[in-house]
Amino acid sequence: MKEKVLDELKKVFYPGKTHSVLQEGIIDDVVVEGNKVVVKIKTQEKNQAVIDMLKRSIPIALKKLDGVEDVELVIEKVVDAKDKISDIRYVIATTSGKGGVGKTTVSVNTALALSKFGYKVGLLDADIYGPNVPTMMGIEGVPVTLDPNHKDKILPIEKYGIKVISIGNLVPKDAAVIWRGALIHKAIQQFLEDVSWGKLDFLVVDLPPGTGDAQLTLAQETKVSGGIIVITPQNVAMSDAYKANDFFERLNIPVLGVIENMSYFICPHCGARTDIFDHGGARRFAEDKGLTFLGEIPIDVEVREGADKGKPIVVADPTSPITQAFEDVARNIIERVKELNQEG
Ligand SMILES: Nc1ncnc2c1ncn2[C@@H]1O[C@H](COP(=O)(O)OP(=O)(O)OP(=O)(O)O)[C@@H](O)[C@H]1O
Ligand SMILES: [Mg+2]
Repeated sequence: MKEKVLDELKKVFYPGKTHSVLQEGIIDDVVVEGNKVVVKIKTQEKNQAVIDMLKRSIPIALKKLDGVEDVELVIEKVVDAKDKISDIRYVIATTSGKGGVGKTTVSVNTALALSKFGYKVGLLDADIYGPNVPTMMGIEGVPVTLDPNHKDKILPIEKYGIKVISIGNLVPKDAAVIWRGALIHKAIQQFLEDVSWGKLDFLVVDLPPGTGDAQLTLAQETKVSGGIIVITPQNVAMSDAYKANDFFERLNIPVLGVIENMSYFICPHCGARTDIFDHGGARRFAEDKGLTFLGEIPIDVEVREGADKGKPIVVADPTSPITQAFEDVARNIIERVKELNQEG
């Protein structure tokens, strides 16, 4: 009997589509109890008219079968993961083809600069293998807690006015290195779905270097408003920048722009400038690919110290020229995000 029911369901069109309800994948289970058929449906459908049509068309079709007198539909509405974080206005992700160029430093300080401008900001550390956000934000060893209002959600840690979540605050330090693809996927999915982010203007996502599982998961699980490519200026870093850009393109993530980190060095004693890693490579790369150049951040001991001490320069030294450089980057990001979303 169950086979007959399923065969019949193959003939019932999904409203507004050219395939059946079975092909749509909404049929979760079919249970036959004597002359009664119970059809369990799991759907993300938001249009009530479609649900109403299903409530009519499925029983009509099944009651044509010999031996079926009663049809019950049990409809469970599941929330699309993409909708769950709809309280977050813009998700922006920082990446680079190469490790150690300063993604995390840029993510942290840019997030804090955005917050200084009055935006509500979250920072998601998607670097499962090597989470550096807790150290840089000074929240190492701080455990996350459950949300008292939603026991199935976790509360992000609040520091310097922004909300932060990192695997480093969930599992012991050494456990993080054994994470593999599927688990990384699950972890990032949970960071998006099971964290009480509340209402955010920006969620800044700090990605691990390269083009791996974290990037793919993020693109699958949420709508990323834009990606930021961080590069250091020397020529050898450029091929990695091209890779990062290609990856964003393949994932259909619009690129907000390019940041040159460790762009130049100003001697704190004599004021002389040295282009330690050369200078201007990021701008040339941006021009070559038709991307926006978001700004340059000098190399400075205060930036490194702030990162190590858990007090990023944007909060540690609010008036320094480097803080201003991060604020300029943040302003350009806001402009680009609005431009990409066609807002004035
Ligand atoms: N502008 C800068 N001036 C001085 N030090 C910097 C600057 N940017 C980053 N650093 C330092 O360089 C090191 C690497 O930076 P960071 O961890 O942000 O890079 P990353 O690209 O996130 O690395 P990973 O690929 O390991 O995630 C850190 O010690 C950081 O403090
Ligand atoms: Mg990093």
